[in-house]
Amino acid sequence: MQGHGREVILGVGGGIAAYKSCDLLRRLQDCGFLVTVVPTPSSLNFVGAATWEALSGRAVTSEVFESVEEVRHVSLAKKANFIIIAPATADLIARITAGRADDLLTNVILAADVPVLIIPAMHPQMWNDPATTSNVRLLRERGFSILEPEVGALTSGDIGKGRFPDTAKILEAFAEITDVSSDFLGKKVLVTAGGTREQIDPIRFIGNQSSGKQGYAVALQALRRGAEVVLVSANATLPDIEGVRTIHVESAAQMHEAVRDEFSGCDLLVMAAAVADARPATVNSAKIKKGDFSSIDLAENVDILKSLNEVKTHQIVVAFAAETSHDDASAVAKMHSKGADILYLNDVSGGDIFNSETTYGEIFLKSGERVRVAKTTKDTLAQELLDHALHQLGLSNV
Ligand code: CTP
Repeated sequence: MQGHGREVILGVGGGIAAYKSCDLLRRLQDCGFLVTVVPTPSSLNFVGAATWEALSGRAVTSEVFESVEEVRHVSLAKKANFIIIAPATADLIARITAGRADDLLTNVILAADVPVLIIPAMHPQMWNDPATTSNVRLLRERGFSILEPEVGALTSGDIGKGRFPDTAKILEAFAEITDVSSDFLGKKVLVTAGGTREQIDPIRFIGNQSSGKQGYAVALQALRRGAEVVLVSANATLPDIEGVRTIHVESAAQMHEAVRDEFSGCDLLVMAAAVADARPATVNSAKIKKGDFSSIDLAENVDILKSLNEVKTHQIVVAFAAETSHDDASAVAKMHSKGADILYLNDVSGGDIFNSETTYGEIFLKSGERVRVAKTTKDTLAQELLDHALHQLGLSNV
């Protein structure tokens, strides 16, 4: 199971098996999942927040009224790809069934719309009680996955069904609900994002409208599909993606250098950045005063994609073209001249793509095929481009 970059909430209920979840947390991290632990307040009697913080490397809170400014129950719910609750006590199961929201974990469960795996552990009498049986049935009907507890000796000295299963068993059940695709495992993906800035003087620059959102979406989706991802980011204000090696650059020349250094070791280059075609021929070391401005002499920047043509071996290259007017022939010509295998063309004349969460346009493939992309999220476009790239890398099963 490969969890590259997927966010997991590990909910911990107030049972003695809470300490066994420390191992589960470690194994989830080994698989590449990014785990935030949300213990119930009563579980802190067994394993304290400090242990979870040290093991997960992330802040740990139990109540909604902690870190209120973050609206943590909503931010955690939005970020999560999966929730796993281990151990789940009879009380926690009852509260989830009733739709209660009396601690952070139950709030997150209500606010999230992601697969949930519940690992119950309790005394056999409590597990077999009609109230618990009915709660478990109801939750299963609502789509929750609930692992049957193991039969064996319990902390109370009794023997019966209620034991917390081995970590391996839990991971097996988790693999079924995550269905994490790892078709880019072993592949290195290089992505550029944002817009370059070409300095005029210490204060001013020539820049462009690119927010970097599309490139970051490609980097995140490639990471989630198992790739090793390097992102060359030009002036994007987006937060770094955990698990992605990000190289921050400003100018086209710096981007060129970073891409050239990384390109030979990569399998796929997605050149989503808006690179300035020209820079001021000279950079003024002092601020240019109002009266001294008449014109700016420009020098041409290196065409990064074209420069890679000579060193390209097995790599698949995806180019982007943001146009205000175009025809298909010029799009195809641009793809070929850049040595690209795929080109995504979007019409930005409406001004509604830059900094937007959505995009629309057309994908041109080297084979001559064209695929229209109706308005969709930048994540979905990223997935589609990765599918085409994978196909061209000769790895696709379809
Ligand atoms: N690109 C590049 N190096 C440059 C300029 C652009 O590698 N100096 C890349 C972009 O990242 C993009 C693709 O080339 O993936 C197409 O960018 P675009 O600006 O449309 O291409 P240009 O060659 O600048 O063509 P145009 O004259 O239409 O601006």
